[in-house]
Amino acid sequence: MPVINYIEFNGSEHSVQVPTGVSLMQGAMDNMIQGIVAECGGCCVCCTCHCMIDPAWAATAGTAADDESELLEMLDTREETSRLSCQVKVTDAMDGMVVRLPESQY
Ligand code: FES
Repeated sequence: MPVINYIEFNGSEHSVQVPTGVSLMQGAMDNMIQGIVAECGGCCVCCTCHCMIDPAWAATAGTAADDESELLEMLDTREETSRLSCQVKVTDAMDGMVVRLPESQY
């Protein structure tokens, strides 16, 4: 099972196993990791699951679909590798991925 390394805004690091096919958002929620709110429960309408993929892993995470990109454009804190974590499904290739969580959801 892939290990995802979540880093909260305060620097707290959490290395947790997340099953393939589960979203980065759900992986964080299932492991009680602070920094992802996920108000809409993963329906891609709330933007409160914002995360920044470590640049070394950005290609592995893939690119945002149009609806996700439109939501990301609304964020002041958007970075080049920003994604909505509910839209990124974990794959075996993501074993070791580093994901940072923004201050706005801290
Ligand atoms: S949980 Fe609402 S957009 Fe991801």
